[in-house]
Amino acid sequence: MSSLSTSIADLRKSYERAELSESASNADPLKQFDQWLQEAVNAHVLEPNAMTVATVSGDMRPSTRIVLIKGYDERGIVWYTNYESRKGQQLAGNPFAALQFHWVELERVVRIEGKVERVSAEESDAYFASRPLDSRIGAWASPQSQVISGRSVLVANAAKYSAQFLLNPPRPPHWGGFRLVPERWEFWQGRKSRLHDRLVYRQEGLDWRRERLAP
Ligand SMILES: Cc1cc2nc3c(=O)[nH]c(=O)nc-3n(C[C@H](O)[C@H](O)[C@H](O)COP(=O)(O)O)c2cc1C
Repeated sequence: MSSLSTSIADLRKSYERAELSESASNADPLKQFDQWLQEAVNAHVLEPNAMTVATVSGDMRPSTRIVLIKGYDERGIVWYTNYESRKGQQLAGNPFAALQFHWVELERVVRIEGKVERVSAEESDAYFASRPLDSRIGAWASPQSQVISGRSVLVANAAKYSAQFLLNPPRPPHWGGFRLVPERWEFWQGRKSRLHDRLVYRQEGLDWRRERLAP
């Protein structure tokens, strides 16, 4: 092993900031998530709205990437992307996905699993219209996940679509929102001596069954 990998192996941290108990957690995982996300925002953690999205390809290979959560309510968790991207194509073939938030400073992780659907065209239109102009042009300019010959392709595309649409680019038909409808939630709070708290919520009819998992 090189000296670098030895020092990496020696990196470890004790988690002692907080605890997560059955009695103090919310019986509704959405409310628990809302509370933790608000706490992450209030604690000024970096990019509290960034989450990893895992999808699975047609040949059963998983892949992950980071996106920004743009909405959440009893219907599910929403993010926006290019429907023709790698993740978009994987979700078209297999609509099951997993999300993960890691709020490092709070020693907290949330994992959410479920089935993914597209949000309505009206919802995507409304969110698209709220984005800054350069992001709206960017949605046209970037054939996300495709091989391009160089950065100049993006610059040329951006110039072309800026000239075409001026200040009012419409939402590209290949761009919009996905909503993951949760079937399983897990809340992880780091604790001392690797005896972390893990609460899992699984759907049982209309209710959520909350149980503790060993860390
Ligand atoms: C903090 C952060 C936020 C991101 N947010 C988004 C997003 O909301 N939507 C998106 O399509 N890509 C977002 N990306 C880029 C993705 O991580 C990824 O590169 C892109 O979606 C292509 O992934 P794919 O080829 O697996 O489809 C973000 C990247 C980072 C680091």
